[in-house]
Amino acid sequence: MNLLLLCRAEPLSRWQQPLTQRLPHDRLIVEATHSAPGSIDVVIADSPPQGIWKQFPNLKLIQSLWMGVDRWLHDPSLPAHVPIARMIDPNMVTAMTETVVAHVLHVHLHHDDMRRQQSERRWEEFYNPVAAKRSVGILGLGSLGAAAARALTDLGFRVSGWSRRPKSLDAVRCYAGAEQLGDFLAVSEILVCLLPLTRATRGIANAGFFRQMPSGAVFINVGRGAHVVEADLLHALDSGHLRHAILDVFEQEPLPREHRFWTHSRVTVSPHSASMANPESASDFVAENLRRLRVGEPLLGIVDRAEEY
Ligand SMILES: NC(=O)c1ccc[n+]([C@@H]2O[C@H](COP(=O)([O-])OP(=O)(O)OC[C@H]3O[C@@H](n4cnc5c(N)ncnc54)[C@H](OP(=O)(O)O)[C@@H]3O)[C@@H](O)[C@H]2O)c1
Repeated sequence: MNLLLLCRAEPLSRWQQPLTQRLPHDRLIVEATHSAPGSIDVVIADSPPQGIWKQFPNLKLIQSLWMGVDRWLHDPSLPAHVPIARMIDPNMVTAMTETVVAHVLHVHLHHDDMRRQQSERRWEEFYNPVAAKRSVGILGLGSLGAAAARALTDLGFRVSGWSRRPKSLDAVRCYAGAEQLGDFLAVSEILVCLLPLTRATRGIANAGFFRQMPSGAVFINVGRGAHVVEADLLHALDSGHLRHAILDVFEQEPLPREHRFWTHSRVTVSPHSASMANPESASDFVAENLRRLRVGEPLLGIVDRAEEY
């Protein structure tokens, strides 16, 4: 098959060799050298530019190198009949689990408060509740949220999760749908957002949402920046209702230098690095999906275009 590799956000050199190694019988074409769009069977891409899809009349699959495809789906040139597969890379799942566990332990153990105290040379001891008394909520129980929930239950936390459809996960109190969001938020002392960005989840973390969280709660966003109404989050932090926010993703990235999040004493910023694509294991995923495509087996990670994830 003819595979076109389009890398706009990541260096091409990260992907070319691992993909070529795993797909010795296919032709991996890079953007600079491709001249016959009609011959392309599969496009493999990180962040494809808008409007490109009409030039590929014979596409059989669009394979994302990233787990979230929210930026792709509003392109009117996307052919309705070509499946889009997102990445589900076990190493990315592990990296996200580690990030979530690190952030949850950080605030569970009051390291954020200790940092603030240090800046004031203030000595006040903390008596931490045991994990079994600490409620952690996970928004989104998909490949990332379910793995994070498992790791946190293993550490003894009281874990709840919220998804679109009802779910059952060992030792996790599961809530589903808009009607159960309030009950879920009310028990989430530490809340982790691992939702995909869709029309239903854009701006979900707004003033009403933060108001339903317990006083002194912590908000961790490792989903997408546009889940959050940033002014409402700042208000919830400034008013003291929320104790802290740990943010990896933002409405505008890179986060503008003048943004208040950079210097806010109750905000921790990281540069969209909670879980980065791993070219080795992600290339294994791509190779497996192309094998399935060749033999007509069900593809992995197929995006539901109507639900936008
Ligand atoms: N910061 C980073 O470095 C980074 C890295 C990778 C991914 N991400 C983000 O993480 C997101 C989640 O990834 P994933 O692989 O876990 O996605 P996934 O497997 O598709 O899971 C999505 C979860 O969200 C739930 N959900 C979707 N729409 C909902 C709604 N309207 N109401 C309630 N729940 C809803 C789904 O419910 P159902 O189970 O009922 O379908 C599912 O549990 C990605 O889309 C991406 O934006 C961030």
